Amino acid sequence: MTALARIIDVHRVYPRAGVSLDALSGVTLDIERGSFVAIVGRSGSGKSTLLNLLGCLDQPSRGQVFLEDVDTATLDDKQASRLRNRFIGFLFQSFNLIPQMSVLENVETALLYSDRPEHEWRARASGLLQRLGIDERSSHRPSELSGGEAQRAALARALVNEPELLLADEPTGNLDVDTGESVLALLDELVAEGRTLVLVTHDQSVAARAHRVVELSDGKVIRDSLR
Ligand SMILES: Nc1ncnc2c1ncn2[C@@H]1O[C@H](COP(=O)(O)OP(=O)(O)O)[C@@H](O)[C@H]1O
Ligand SMILES: [Mg+2]
Repeated sequence: MTALARIIDVHRVYPRAGVSLDALSGVTLDIERGSFVAIVGRSGSGKSTLLNLLGCLDQPSRGQVFLEDVDTATLDDKQASRLRNRFIGFLFQSFNLIPQMSVLENVETALLYSDRPEHEWRARASGLLQRLGIDERSSHRPSELSGGEAQRAALARALVNEPELLLADEPTGNLDVDTGESVLALLDELVAEGRTLVLVTHDQSVAARAHRVVELSDGKVIRDSLR
């Protein structure tokens, strides 16, 4: 069976004040279906750049990114956002919830571009909020939530389209240890259910939960080990 995602000799060059900066220099990785991969490395090593490429938020300067056998370079903006919406769930360190919307609306908004019938949206969104233990916060604005609640709301939003691939960039970076642990336990559960998770972290104890650890340094893979 082919990998869920394939990154083949990917480079990402950023122009910077006349000189160019190689954020990624020749990264090749297969992400197997159902795996939990941790991406580690020092600040500036290219972790977020790699995750953004995997999530079709960015295009490589050179090399290829395949998602389920689709070469993402062949997609126009509309096709890319459609793929992103249906196939990928994102979780960010700073939650990225829409401040003007309630928790429930934040989750429902992710269904706007789905094929799911509108009369199912509310039930789907509130069902997930219930599963994640924050249904009591449904009508609250993000600013009224604790960090752990905000990350659960963001997780509900990430999951509402039942994405194959979950991408998380330092999802516990803004949480205290106990709250972070509860979010990681939810992510472990999702992996146990068969979802694929790629998680960026600089925390060794977080990386230790993964099936596989990929370490980046200066935009290159310097370690790729199964656990
Ligand atoms: N949009 C950008 N424009 C210019 N340089 C960038 C941009 N994004 C990242 N970089 C640079 O690319 C390198 C890798 O960044 P990043 O992927 O964010 O690393 P990490 O997530 O591991 O901290 C860094 O040197 C960073 O400064
Ligand atoms: Mg980063």
